[in-house]
Amino acid sequence: MENSAFFRFFALLLLHCFMASLAVAVRTNITTDQSALLALKAHITDDPHKILATNWSTSTSVCNWIGITCGAKHLRVTALNLSAMGLTGTIAPHVGNLSSLSHLSFENNSFHGSLPNELASLRRLQVVSFGWNSFSGVLPSWFWFFPKLREFYANSNRFNGTIPVTPCTISSLQIIHLRQNMLSGFMPFIIYHFLS
Ligand SMILES: *[C@@H]1O[C@H](CO)[C@@H](O)[C@H](O)[C@H]1NC(C)=O
Ligand SMILES: *[C@@H]1O[C@H](CO)[C@@H](O)[C@H](O)[C@H]1NC(C)=O
Ligand SMILES: *[C@@H]1O[C@H](CO)[C@@H](O)[C@H](O)[C@H]1NC(C)=O
Ligand SMILES: *[C@@H]1O[C@H](CO)[C@@H](O)[C@H](O)[C@H]1NC(C)=O
Ligand SMILES: *[C@@H]1O[C@H](CO)[C@@H](O)[C@H](O)[C@H]1NC(C)=O
Ligand SMILES: *[C@@H]1O[C@H](CO)[C@@H](O)[C@H](O)[C@H]1NC(C)=O
Repeated sequence: MENSAFFRFFALLLLHCFMASLAVAVRTNITTDQSALLALKAHITDDPHKILATNWSTSTSVCNWIGITCGAKHLRVTALNLSAMGLTGTIAPHVGNLSSLSHLSFENNSFHGSLPNELASLRRLQVVSFGWNSFSGVLPSWFWFFPKLREFYANSNRFNGTIPVTPCTISSLQIIHLRQNMLSGFMPFIIYHFLS
């Protein structure tokens, strides 16, 4: 590898580790969770089976909403799972306020646009799926720094650019699926090892 490219790679790696350690703490509660989900609902442009349109109503707690799981202890949203609901739309940046989220799935819908950087604050995530949608833009690298991340699916989308740099620690990571995108370029060997 050329010296300058080598240097750039390590500078980037350090920057990423530094950013990951900066995780901004926002004061959030179940009310914040509700506004985040309502913002997400407002960004859905087509809901053919009227699932969210009828079910995500403010007359009941978000914990009773379809696709939502709340933690028993702190009564916060811990899982958001909208898989295979036929939805079209973009991801509202407000989703980044769901600070207790451990499971997130938008799998198998028609979501498009790029992933908002606000999702970088969801540091408790363990399982994430954006698979089988029409997401585009660069594949963000901050997911690799979530300490408990076990499974990451971004396959079958339109992500482009290069595969993000090697994470500081990937000890928890078990599955990464990135196939069927327009990703290219430098592929760190550790990530390469995980590609199936
Ligand atoms: C959530 O926090 C806001 C302030 O950030 C507060 O006004 C509100 O009452 C809180 N709601 C609950 C349910 O604790
Ligand atoms: C929303 O869906 C959940 C899960 O299917 C169900 O338990 C709840 O009664 C529904 N709420 C409304 C208002 O339809
Ligand atoms: C996506 O969901 C549809 C139903 O909405 C299902 O028929 C199809 O098998 C699913 N595809 C994948 C790849 O999970
Ligand atoms: C939640 O996120 C949005 C957009 O990222 C932001 O504008 C809002 O102030 C955040 N905080 C709360 C408490 O809703
Ligand atoms: C979302 O729900 C589907 C269907 O119920 C399930 O197969 C999938 O494992 C769930 N995903 C997550 C991340 O919880
Ligand atoms: C990714 O695609 C967008 C258009 O969707 C384009 O503007 C951008 O230049 C592409 N980036 C790379 C690195 O290919």
